[in-house]
Parts: sequence; structure tokens; C-alpha cells
Amino acid sequence: MLTSIDDIPELCKENVYIKDKESLLKNINKIIAEGHKKLQILTDFDHTLTRHDVDGVPVLTSFGMFKECPSVPQKYKDDETMLANKYKPIEVDANMSIEDKVKHMKDWYMASHNLMKGLKFPRNELMDIGHKMVGCFRKGVNDLISWSECHQVPVLVFSAGLGECVVAALQAAKFLLPNVKVISNFLAMDENDNIVGIQGEIIHTYNKNETAIKHTEYYGMVKERNNVLLMGDNIGDAGMAEGMEHCDVVIKIGFLGRNTEANLQNYVCTFDIVVVNEHTMDIANAILKLVL
Ligand code: TMP
Repeated sequence: MLTSIDDIPELCKENVYIKDKESLLKNINKIIAEGHKKLQILTDFDHTLTRHDVDGVPVLTSFGMFKECPSVPQKYKDDETMLANKYKPIEVDANMSIEDKVKHMKDWYMASHNLMKGLKFPRNELMDIGHKMVGCFRKGVNDLISWSECHQVPVLVFSAGLGECVVAALQAAKFLLPNVKVISNFLAMDENDNIVGIQGEIIHTYNKNETAIKHTEYYGMVKERNNVLLMGDNIGDAGMAEGMEHCDVVIKIGFLGRNTEANLQNYVCTFDIVVVNEHTMDIANAILKLVL
């Protein structure tokens, strides 16, 4: 049992912000005491498992990985960039209400998926890009995944990006172990690998909470696990556990790496721990190391 948050040096750094130390201490102690059998790990992919940048160069998002494939037509790339230039600022706007953002997100995802229709899915090219992503994961993701495998703690990678790209990067890094599952936007393809749409409901940054984890294989793995270590880089990621009513303790770690000054206040209100301009998984790993 910890007597103070200061017992975890990783939480005492200058770039770490904690809203309520007492409540965090209580929750960490509960997670420690109830042990790995009651724990699950819920994480976003883009700029959460991966870094925001490597040596100042922004890390590709899962949509970015798709765009990087040589056979993807320039017209798609230009149109996708135009959409992203319009909607990304809305997604990270510090002042717009979530309700207003949701409308824009729906428009963005519909338009983006429509652009993909009819394109040939670049399966092999994506595997190559996946390998290039291996160096873009945060330092310590491998320790986190090894720990989860060793203790058989389920990990959900919950992404509003493109599922096939998330899987390609995780596979290349050898992180896609049996205890690691991905819920994301997976493409629907015809028998010739032409994209015909998206499978199921669109997952965007602000409906990750509504999206049914319930009817997935993952839910079956975690229905007895009421403690969650959650990680994300968008405000919307903080709601990722809301579809699982049995979860009573959710420790939320937010990685803030963009518009840091404007967003800090919102992040501190939303996440239990906010870590600014960080490229490691040190905090999550420090907490996991204490779990019985
Ligand atoms: P996530 O991985 O953080 O859940 O979110 C996926 C990101 O992908 C989110 O920030 C929005 C972004 N995105 C694009 O970059 N291009 C697109 O065409 C769409 C629809 C989303």
C-alpha cells in the first residue's frame, strides 16, 4: 500500500499534473490491493501507444499510415488532407462543446470513408509501413505489453482510427498477443480487396464511450475486471470505459502533446493524471509494477 502519491517518483515530475492526489492515491491502492486478476488496460492508439513525434517529426496516425501507401491515389491523399485540415482543429478545439464537436466528427468520418470507397486496399504496402512504425511507439510500451501478457491482463486498443493500420503496426511490433484486442474502424472489402465501406458503426473520438464494447470478444474477457488503467491523448478518450458499467475504478492517464497551454486546464479536469510532452509509458509501468 502507498501512503503518498510521492512514493511514485514518476508522478512527481514537472510535466505531470494531478487533479486530486487523495482520490488518485485511493484508486491506485485499490488497484494494487485487488491485484492483476481484477485489472484491465484500456488504451487509445494514435499518439498514446505511439508518440506524438520522434525527434520533432510528427508520428504517422493510422489514417496517415494508409495515406503513406504508394498505391493510394494522390487525389485521395489531397482530399483527405483537406478534410483533416478542416476537422482536426475542431477535434482539438479547447472551447467548443463536445455536443457540437460530435456533429462535425460524424461529418468528417462520413466524408473520409466515402473518399476511400472504390480504392484497392494496399495490404502488402501497409505491412511495410507497419514495420516502419515500430520505432514510433512510446518507450516502455514493450514492458507494458510484456507485463500484461505475463499476468494475463487484457489490453484493449480502442481506436477511432483505421483498424487495419492499427493492427499492422501492432503486429509488426509483436504486440498483438492473445490478451491484446483491437476495437476500431475496420474496412469492408469485396472479394478483390476493393474498399466498399466501413464495418459497423463509425467510431470517432467523441463516441468511444457509446460504442458497444459489450458485444465484443473483449467484453467477455473483462466482465469480472472492475479496475481499469486507461490511457488516451484526446479528451474523448477519457470516456472509453463508460460502456462498461461494472468498472468502478478507472485511473485515466492523458498524454497532452498538442496545443498544450490552451488544453492543459481541460485535460486536468478530465484525466486523473496529465503528462505533457512525454514520450514514455513510465507512469503506467510504475503503477503496474506495484500491482499484486
Ligand atoms: P484515435 O486513434 O485517437 O482514436 O483517433 C483517430 C484519429 O484519426 C483522430 O484524431 C481523427 C483522425 N482522423 C484522420 O486523421 N483522418 C481521417 O480521415 C479521419 C476520419 C480521422
